[in-house]
Amino acid sequence: PTGLLSDQLARPLHDLRISVTDRCNFRCVYCMPKAVFDNDYQYLPHTSLLTFEEITRLAKTFIAHGVEKIRLTGGEPLLRKNLERLVAMLAELKTIHGKPLDLTLTTNASLLARKAQSLKDAGLQRITVSLDALDNATFQRMNDVDFSVDDVLRGIDAAHQAGLGPIKINMVVKAGMNDQEILPMARHFRHTPYILRFIEYMDVGASNGWKMDEVIPSSEVVRRIHAEMPLAPLDANYTGETAARWRYADGGGEIGLISSVTQAFCSDCSRARLSTEGKLYTCLFASSGHDLRALLRDGRSDEEISTVLAHLWRARGDRYSELRTNNTDGLQRSANKVEMSYIGG
Ligand code: GTP
Ligand code: 5AD
Ligand code: SF4
Ligand code: SF4
Repeated sequence: PTGLLSDQLARPLHDLRISVTDRCNFRCVYCMPKAVFDNDYQYLPHTSLLTFEEITRLAKTFIAHGVEKIRLTGGEPLLRKNLERLVAMLAELKTIHGKPLDLTLTTNASLLARKAQSLKDAGLQRITVSLDALDNATFQRMNDVDFSVDDVLRGIDAAHQAGLGPIKINMVVKAGMNDQEILPMARHFRHTPYILRFIEYMDVGASNGWKMDEVIPSSEVVRRIHAEMPLAPLDANYTGETAARWRYADGGGEIGLISSVTQAFCSDCSRARLSTEGKLYTCLFASSGHDLRALLRDGRSDEEISTVLAHLWRARGDRYSELRTNNTDGLQRSANKVEMSYIGG
């Protein structure tokens, strides 16, 4: 069985995010805090990881059901050995409409200067880089491993030179940590080819100790920027886009606001996530996923796997962020939500 799917809330399956490793060389305070991800932390053993062949086989099944965009994530995806080989395998796949996939990757840029050209040569189209501050001390407090801003900026330049684009820059805003960097970041990336996006700090996973008062609402981010650099709203590029877009009134380019806390975007969420060990999650905030690796390793046919996928998507009713928005105080904080580094940002 192939063909387009629709879930319980009439949402299509459009976007597949694949985590290729649960490891990262950063310890961002909002994602892999050192206190939890320490030397004793048990990462997945190599045999648990989906192989590139397994990933590609599953990707084909997802594509047959309407996926047009694949994002490689982690952890830090560039830590996965020979990732270019996977990129090349995925770059060959075509959507049901016969078009190339929108193939992209989210990275902390630590290895990007070295790898940008080979990723481009393998068929990667664009990338998104995480960068939380321009001030080095602030950035290092966020990544907690003394990685420097200049190295990230060098990685972004290398990616631009290699022709990966449009490049997006993601900044998670955490009150009291880096919100004073909102304006410097906006000034820096204005009048560049890069699209800066501000992300509300989310209660994802179970280890970052999230509190509502550490969230700076996107409306406040827009207010601060607009006061100095006037903004005007833009329409979405596509249904279900995570970011609300704004342009600088003077033609200085655009920015995005990802407001999963204050303005949830579940109603159009068409994203499926494949964890590092091959579990399918139908929501970033799910506490469990469906083991597709077991099907692969049990020798099930493509058709059987396709039937399972169709069944799972049709049963999907997740809308965690909307439920949380409606109920920030009485939110039942589940202790077993999976970590973002495992499921993929
Ligand atoms: P484009 O393809 O460039 O539009 O990117 P994208 O916005 O789909 O993906 P990206 O990886 O850049 O997402 C940026 C951030 O938005 C993530 O790191 C998350 O913080 C948040 N985000 C992405 N998808 C979801 C989602 O389904 N739910 C929630 N709550 N947050 C999400
Ligand atoms: N809140 C918001 N975004 C997060 N990310 C990781 N943890 C969080 C969180 N708690 C996202 C960031 C980062 C990407 C790798 O994952 O966007 O850039
Ligand atoms: Fe690593 Fe990205 Fe998580 Fe930071 S946000 S710890 S760079 S996976
Ligand atoms: Fe999609 Fe779940 Fe995020 Fe809502 S909270 S946008 S349903 S992943």
